[in-house]
Amino acid sequence: MTPISLTLRVWRQAGPNAPGSLETYALSDVSPDMSFLEMLDVLNEGLIATGEEPVAFDSDCREGICGTCGFLVDGIPHGPDRGTTVCQLHMRRFRDGDTITIEPWRARAFPVLQDLVVDRSAFDRLIQAGGYVSVNCGGAPDANVTLIPRPEAERAMDAAACIGCGACVAACKNASAALFTSAKITHLALLPQGQVERRSRVVRMVERMDAEGFGSCSNEGECEAVCPKEIAITSIARMNREFLRAKLWRS
Ligand code: SF4
Ligand code: FES
Repeated sequence: MTPISLTLRVWRQAGPNAPGSLETYALSDVSPDMSFLEMLDVLNEGLIATGEEPVAFDSDCREGICGTCGFLVDGIPHGPDRGTTVCQLHMRRFRDGDTITIEPWRARAFPVLQDLVVDRSAFDRLIQAGGYVSVNCGGAPDANVTLIPRPEAERAMDAAACIGCGACVAACKNASAALFTSAKITHLALLPQGQVERRSRVVRMVERMDAEGFGSCSNEGECEAVCPKEIAITSIARMNREFLRAKLWRS
């Protein structure tokens, strides 16, 4: 395929308290077979060669499984392809001469650290609040004899596919973490191992969401639309039901 030329408008911010702005870079000879992050690697090689600071961005697996990458491409979390992380987005999706604007997640609970890197430790604290099981589940043979109906197992695994990337928060006009949190609650509420802490988990996680500064869910649906793992918004309805039941049980 013929290489393409692009104009990149990239958010540059030296540190958490530094002012940020969009800087423009011209990039030529971009192979359509490159991933979006490989294209940024090429940009950075050029910046380093001219003594400039490379663009900071997060990545790890580059295979769509770790949840480390993520930023806005033309205002869309992870870019224009549905069900795709930005590390799996390819330059063949763009045309010669395109201008692409690249910005970090925009949410109060995800402050910018540098350029495209944001602090997502609020998600870690949400998991610490209840996204785990502390009961002894035994070893692999025990798991094999714990029978779980197939539909329940499928629904639990669909929710467990969440990689914690934060795109749902970035897409939401309220910066709500409801899709992420509800994915964890759904995953564990559907499995026998999650039953012991089922009620306390949902209360602690929902309260933590508020404490971290995430907004409320107002059923806009942007989270589901941009989620690279296509977590269903019905998880949020389940979280709300679980929360109500837990509160009624406590009262
Ligand atoms: S629910 Fe989807 S968008 Fe949100 S953190 Fe999980 S994988 Fe990312
Ligand atoms: S770098 Fe792991 S999901 Fe993108």
